[in-house]
Amino acid sequence: MQNAPYEAQVEEGKEYWYCACGKSKTQPWCDGSHAGSGVEPISFVAEKTETVWLCGCRMSETLPFCDGSHNEL
Ligand code: FES
Repeated sequence: MQNAPYEAQVEEGKEYWYCACGKSKTQPWCDGSHAGSGVEPISFVAEKTETVWLCGCRMSETLPFCDGSHNEL
């Protein structure tokens, strides 16, 4: 995890799996490291091809997207 968002390019209509546990070695994407932790990745389908900012601190109220919560830490 990090105290800043992850910049990521996404493609319209494609499904993505955001790491919610913080253990993945391929941040911000799930790599299966959550197994046995009780935490599951968060999936989303990109509404359009664009750059998105994904939460790095896991404190966002709009996971998987950054809401600026890292600025309060
Ligand atoms: S590795 Fe973190 S949710 Fe899958």
